[in-house]
Amino acid sequence: MNTQCFDVIIVGTGAAGLSVALELAQLSASDSNKRPPKIALISKGSVTNGSTLYAQGGIAAVLDEVNDSTESHIEDTLNAGAGLCHPDTVRYTIEHGREAIEWLIKQGVIFSREQKGTQYHLTREGGHTQRRVIHAADATGKAISEGLIERLNEYTSIKVFDHHLAVDLILSPENKNQCIGLYLLDTKNNKVMDVPAKFTVLATGGASKVYLYTSNPDTSTGDGIAMAWRAGCRIANMEFNQFHPTCLYHPKAKSFLISEALRGEGAKLKLPDGTLFMHKFDKREELAPRDIVARAIDYEMKRTGSDFVYLDITHKSPDFIKEHFPTIYKRCLGFGIDITREAIPVVPAAHYTCGGVMTNLEGQTDVANLFAIGETAFTGLHGANRMASNSLLECIVFGRRAAQVIKNGLSEYECEPLLPPWDDSRVTGSEEEVVITHNWDELRRFMWNYVGIVRKNKRLLLARQRINLLKREVDDYYRQYLINGDLIELRNLITAAELIINSAMQRKESRGLHYTLDYPYTDDKNFLKDTILVPEIKT
Ligand code: FAD
Ligand code: SIN
Repeated sequence: MNTQCFDVIIVGTGAAGLSVALELAQLSASDSNKRPPKIALISKGSVTNGSTLYAQGGIAAVLDEVNDSTESHIEDTLNAGAGLCHPDTVRYTIEHGREAIEWLIKQGVIFSREQKGTQYHLTREGGHTQRRVIHAADATGKAISEGLIERLNEYTSIKVFDHHLAVDLILSPENKNQCIGLYLLDTKNNKVMDVPAKFTVLATGGASKVYLYTSNPDTSTGDGIAMAWRAGCRIANMEFNQFHPTCLYHPKAKSFLISEALRGEGAKLKLPDGTLFMHKFDKREELAPRDIVARAIDYEMKRTGSDFVYLDITHKSPDFIKEHFPTIYKRCLGFGIDITREAIPVVPAAHYTCGGVMTNLEGQTDVANLFAIGETAFTGLHGANRMASNSLLECIVFGRRAAQVIKNGLSEYECEPLLPPWDDSRVTGSEEEVVITHNWDELRRFMWNYVGIVRKNKRLLLARQRINLLKREVDDYYRQYLINGDLIELRNLITAAELIINSAMQRKESRGLHYTLDYPYTDDKNFLKDTILVPEIKT
């Protein structure tokens, strides 16, 4: 039974969701004639949960007017994207970069400055030909997340629901192409409620948890992508899952990233015997785009039989390292590695979902009144490989844009207060939780082994067979038993995995993040285009 109608439900409290909520509340505050829109802001865990909190390197934007330019940022993004970026999206995002940073600063986010001056310190990362990454030491995401969350308190019109998990979107019975709310599971008491809203925004992050090794927090289970797919949205370019080249290799270090900004400041990759190797793969060496660096590491690990390679920043002074990378310094020291004196053992891990729910430049999806923002969305910005630090930028630019569009549309719609209630009258409690834990593990392991950094037709086929089995098993389970958070996430991960496998099977070439031994060359004649999957209900 629903409790109230909202103007907007925003699922996700990362950079994307918070930008939509705050921009909408702030735009409306200046409109003193109207009541502020009622906003529900939802997180399946605590409000800070999500990839945003862990972002290290920073946000890319053209802030150095002397050495950098919009055209240069555009060109670097297009180069990294290997022919598949949408030029209009790239231009739109980058032209709004400076404005996005100014907005963050206005919200109270504090970025690092040059040691002696008043200028912001700009660092470099792979693919960038200029220093253009503004950051808060090596904890940029924490500064953004905490800065924006603090602002929420100023708006009573924003109601935060933490520990609530969006299960599925609700479409209008009269118009199956319009979203009118969603089903929400209160994970503390396992109750499902229907929540009506004029507009719904999916800002649920990516799907990198589909892989066994990932830099991402547990929240990245592709929920928004799976919900949008079930509701009839097209999903694009899921084969382009980005693997970050350098995550800490240590048995106790779950998902800890070693920022690309270390390589931006000159850190070198080495084999365990100290040999440098990046010059063999790309003339940009350690600052080549991520797909190239991750593949080079994977190749060298397989060639030498080593479980990791090393990243060495000891050429920098201890003071510089501690000032610029305090989080990484402390975390590594906690594992007995003093990065001011010794190299860091690193391995690649799944990091970013370049594909997602197709949207236009306003964040609108194929379903009316449904938006997708941030890592959940496919705007065309990243092409076949996202350039470092362009994703937080995308979250802010598109989050603010969507808020403006939603504000203008609010008076056109009525909230539909009577939604079809969640029906769990025919299901029972499960005594077979092992089905969920076993399948989580199996899925993530075969995705890593069969659909990872280097692919092959045969392995993709094996992955597809397994996904079909898992899907049947978990769908049966879903129909028979009361739902819980783990089951919903597993069901969504299976959908995300299926979308990745099907997209990878369609792309019979190698481009950007998709590399296959069966088609090792780029084939512009047949594949200079997005891989677009259309849900069955639309075919
Ligand atoms: P997230 O920040 O992941 O937030 C997702 C939100 O959705 C969470 O609140 C979660 O609880 C909620 N949610 C998910 N599913 C549901 C559901 N079913 N119901 C309710 N709530 C749900 N990018 C950069 O540009 N620069 C960087 O320096 C950088 N560093 C990174 C470092 C790390 C370790 C990682 C993991 C990523 C990094 N990235 C970086 C990528 C960037 O952080 C993410 O792409 C970005 O933060 C995604 O923001 P988001 O708002 O889309 O999603
Ligand atoms: C990093 O700091 O290396 C992550 C940057 C990103 O993913 O954009």
